[in-house]
Amino acid sequence: MTVSWKAWPDLFIICVSLCATGAASQTFVLEPVSSTVLEGSNVTFNATVVGEWQIMTWNIGENLVLTINYKGEITAFKNYSAGFCSAGDSRCVAFTIHDVSRMENGSVTCAVQGLFGSKTADLYVQEVGTISITGGNMTVEVGQQVEFQCVTYGWYPTPTVSWTRDGEAVNSSLYNTTSTTDGGYSNSTSVLNFQAVRNTTVECLADVSTLPQPQSSSVFLVVVPLPPDWTVLIAVVVSIGGFALLVLLIIGIIYCYKHRKEKQSNYQDEMSRRVRTQSEISGAGQREGQVNTGYVPEGQTSVAPSEITDSGFSQANGSNVLEMPDVLNGRQAEYYNDPVDLGFKKHRHVTIV
Ligand SMILES: *[C@@H]1O[C@H](CO)[C@@H](O)[C@H](O)[C@H]1NC(C)=O
Ligand SMILES: *[C@@H]1O[C@H](CO)[C@@H](O)[C@H](O)[C@H]1NC(C)=O
Ligand SMILES: *[C@@H]1O[C@H](CO)[C@@H](O)[C@H](O)[C@H]1NC(C)=O
Ligand SMILES: *[C@@H]1O[C@H](CO)[C@@H](O)[C@H](O)[C@H]1NC(C)=O
Ligand SMILES: *[C@@H]1O[C@H](CO)[C@@H](O)[C@H](O)[C@H]1NC(C)=O
Ligand SMILES: *[C@@H]1O[C@H](CO)[C@@H](O)[C@H](O)[C@H]1NC(C)=O
Ligand SMILES: *[C@@H]1O[C@H](CO)[C@@H](O)[C@H](O)[C@H]1NC(C)=O
Ligand SMILES: *[C@@H]1O[C@H](CO)[C@@H](O)[C@H](O)[C@H]1NC(C)=O
Ligand SMILES: *[C@@H]1O[C@H](CO)[C@@H](O)[C@H](O)[C@H]1NC(C)=O
Repeated sequence: MTVSWKAWPDLFIICVSLCATGAASQTFVLEPVSSTVLEGSNVTFNATVVGEWQIMTWNIGENLVLTINYKGEITAFKNYSAGFCSAGDSRCVAFTIHDVSRMENGSVTCAVQGLFGSKTADLYVQEVGTISITGGNMTVEVGQQVEFQCVTYGWYPTPTVSWTRDGEAVNSSLYNTTSTTDGGYSNSTSVLNFQAVRNTTVECLADVSTLPQPQSSSVFLVVVPLPPDWTVLIAVVVSIGGFALLVLLIIGIIYCYKHRKEKQSNYQDEMSRRVRTQSEISGAGQREGQVNTGYVPEGQTSVAPSEITDSGFSQANGSNVLEMPDVLNGRQAEYYNDPVDLGFKKHRHVTIV
C-alpha cells in the first residue's frame, strides 16, 4: 500500500501534536511569578503539574524548606506548609509560608523530580518601620513660618511620605522628602513648611503598597495672636524723646545766645560809662580807657591763655587793673616749663574727660 503525497501534511500535523503533548506532560507552572507581601502575613504559591510526578521540593533562597510526594505526604520546617489545591487531585500543589519575615525576601524555587526541572518566583517582603514628627506640638504666633520634620526608620521599601493639615492633603510643593537606603531598608526625613494661620492638626503619613492603611504620626499646632509690637512702641518713644531733646537744645542755645548778647551790651555800656568817668577825673585825652582783656564774662567757662597773654603784654605797663593777665601768664609758663607737674596733668585730664 502506498501513501499518497497529499497525506504527508496530515501526518506531520499528527506528529507535531504528539510531540507537543509529550513535552507538556513533563512540565509545570509556578504561580504567581512574583508576590509582594507585608511582613508577618502568609503567602501562597501554586505549582500546577501536567503529567505524572513523584516528588516535589520547595526552596527559599538556597534553603530546602519543604518536600511533598504525589500521595500528599509532607516533610517541612516550621512555618511552611503544603497541600493539594483540591483534595485528592495531585495536579496542583499549594505551598504556603506562614508569618513571612524579611529574611525570606528573595527567591522561591519549586522543583519537580524527573524531567520537569524547576521554576522560580520572586518574593518581596515589605516592612513597616517607625514614623514620628520630631519636636512634638508647637505654639507659634499667627503669620509665623513653621517647619515640621517627619522621620521614618527601617522601612522596606522606601515609603511614600505625605502630609495632611486638619485631614486635608498638603500640596507636595510645601514639603521635601529625602531618604537613605542600606541593604534595601530605608530611613527618610520629610520637611514641611507653611505659614501658621490657625490651630491645625498636622499629620505625617508613610505608606508602602501592601499596607491596608498608611502609618501616621500627628501633632498639634497652636496659633496665638501677635503680642503688642514693642519695637514700634520703642521706636515711637525714642523718636518723640529725641525730638523733645532737640527742641530743648535749640531753646537752650537761643537762650544762651540772647543772654550773652545782653551781657555784651551791658559791658559796652559799662565801658562807655568808665570812659566818661575817667575823662572826668584825669581830664580829657590824658589817659584813654583800655579794654579789660582779663575780664571774663559770667557764664563763660574758659578763656584761651593766648588771648589773655597777647593783649596782656601789649598793656603790661598800664594800670593795676591789668595785672591779672601777667599772673595768668606766669602760671601758664610754669605749667609748660614743668612737664612733671602732676597737678596740671591731672587738671588737663579731667578737662578732656
Ligand atoms: C497564617 O497562617 C497561620 C498558621 O496556619 C494562621 O494561624 C494565621 O491565621 C494565618 N494568617 C493569615 C493572615 O492568614
Ligand atoms: C517561624 O515563625 C516564627 C515567628 O515569626 C519565627 O520566630 C521562626 O523563626 C520562624 N521559623 C522559621 C523556620 O522560619
Ligand atoms: C492557588 O490555589 C488556590 C487553591 O486552588 C487558589 O485559591 C489560589 O487562587 C491559587 N493561587 C494562584 C496564584 O493561582
Ligand atoms: C527582596 O527580593 C527581591 C526579589 O528577589 C530583590 O530584588 C530585593 O532586592 C530583595 N530586597 C531585600 C531588601 O533583600
Ligand atoms: C499635643 O496636643 C494634643 C492636644 O492638645 C495632646 O493631646 C497631646 O498629648 C500633645 N502631645 C504632646 C507630645 O505634647
Ligand atoms: C500645588 O501647588 C502648585 C504650585 O504652587 C500648583 O501649581 C498646583 O496646582 C498645586 N496643586 C494642587 C493639587 O493644589
Ligand atoms: C525643597 O528643596 C528644594 C531644593 O533643595 C528647594 O528649592 C525647595 O525650596 C524646598 N522646598 C521646601 C518646601 O522645603
Ligand atoms: C536608619 O536609622 C537608624 C537609626 O538612626 C540607623 O541605625 C541606620 O543606620 C539608618 N539607616 C540608613 C539606611 O540610614
Ligand atoms: C488654639 O488652641 C489653643 C489651645 O488649645 C486655644 O487656647 C486657642 O483659643 C485656640 N485658638 C483658636 C483661634 O481657636
